[in-house]
Amino acid sequence: MKKAVWGMAFVLTLMVSCKTDKLEEQEPFYYSSDEEFFNNNAGLSDSALIGKLIFFDKNLSEPAGISCATCHSPMSAFSDSRHTSFSAGVNGQTGTRNASAISYMTFAPNRRAEMVRGIWETVGGFFWDGKAEFLNQQALFPFVHPHEMNNPGYGAVADKLKRADYYPKLEKLFGKAALADSQTIVFYAISCIQAFEQSHQVNPFTSKFDFYLKGKVQLTEQEKRGMALFSDTTKAKCSLCHMTSPTPYATTDKILFTDYSYDNIGLPKHPDLLHMPIDSGLAIFENKNPLEVGRFKSPTLRNIAITAPYMHSGIFGTLEEVLEFYNERDVNPKFAHPEVAENINTADMGDLKLTEQEIKDIIAFLHTLTDGYRLP
Ligand code: HEC
Ligand code: HEC
Repeated sequence: MKKAVWGMAFVLTLMVSCKTDKLEEQEPFYYSSDEEFFNNNAGLSDSALIGKLIFFDKNLSEPAGISCATCHSPMSAFSDSRHTSFSAGVNGQTGTRNASAISYMTFAPNRRAEMVRGIWETVGGFFWDGKAEFLNQQALFPFVHPHEMNNPGYGAVADKLKRADYYPKLEKLFGKAALADSQTIVFYAISCIQAFEQSHQVNPFTSKFDFYLKGKVQLTEQEKRGMALFSDTTKAKCSLCHMTSPTPYATTDKILFTDYSYDNIGLPKHPDLLHMPIDSGLAIFENKNPLEVGRFKSPTLRNIAITAPYMHSGIFGTLEEVLEFYNERDVNPKFAHPEVAENINTADMGDLKLTEQEIKDIIAFLHTLTDGYRLP
């Protein structure tokens, strides 16, 4: 199975060039339910629109009932709005990782080495452990993952796509000849999902922070204090990884609050996973390199106030718990047993000595990163 996935993705990379929407030129789009989001298609390219229809199509799972949007809802920046640590897919099955928020992840570089804080490191790629090198590889996984959409193979996915009422749109866009076999049908479907994931609807840049950068609104005194602490590399140190300047190797010059680097931040094992082997993160595919064990990708913190629970295992339910962990990991006995004891980052976190007020200020700042802010 794995080999087929990579082979396909390679062909896909060569074949498909996607139309993407011009993010900046779009009017901000506000919505208050999945349905309202689904029904507004203003400004989407043809391929992004088809991608959106595929993304919301519950008939593409085996049995029917689960779409990408089941675990990636527009109401929570395309993370799981059921807010469970592990998302239920087909037949209520769950995996061992928390559903990622898809907003803004399209700007991640393909997985590669970059100079990070003075050292050559792996950055980018998709999933918590970077197992998909390119975004278009990523979408191949959920269709056939037994805990997600559970199709027996890509032939089955193509058959379901052919029965969809949007299939004629796909034929019109790419031509019947191009959709000659199941492989190419899936290739083009995935290129459309990617166009949707790259569109302004998934990456709106409509947070209070964005309007503040444009000079359209002021931050409160508390939010400003939080921002200063967050960015202070001798104090809370968050911006060392969750960058507050543009990420040099990202595909946008907007601020993304991540450098896409991988770290073992020393999290305890999720209580529901105590019977499971350790989750070795980045090392899963990196030939079990002992230096990569336990390291996971730094995610964006855009929309972080609405994407709980947090971390690759969804172990923390609130931002208060996250801050308590960063602040006290090395001095609070409840954090004394990390899942992976090797490679823990001890330089940048663990005993930050932040006061309660400072923690509140940082959380107030994090709340300014939620999209859908309306100017007063
Ligand atoms: C049953 C829930 C479920 C369904 C259905 C599902 N996903 Fe996911 N998705 C997850 C989980 C859990 C992760 C994190 C997995 C990991 O990192 O190992 C994830 C990760 C991702 C990521 C990686 C984001 C990043 O930051 O690297 C993308 C993109 C994504 N999913 C897109 C999709 C698409 C497209 C579909 C439909 C074809 C889909 N997902 C269907 C649960 C789901
Ligand atoms: C050395 C790099 C580094 C520093 C410094 C750092 N983080 Fe993180 N952050 C990470 C990584 C890596 C993850 C993912 C860890 C995992 O899931 O195993 C993460 C995850 C998070 C998450 C959960 C994201 C999600 O989508 O679930 C939050 C919230 C967060 N960090 C906030 C902060 C704050 C606030 C600070 C400063 C007090 C900070 N981080 C400092 C690397 C860092």
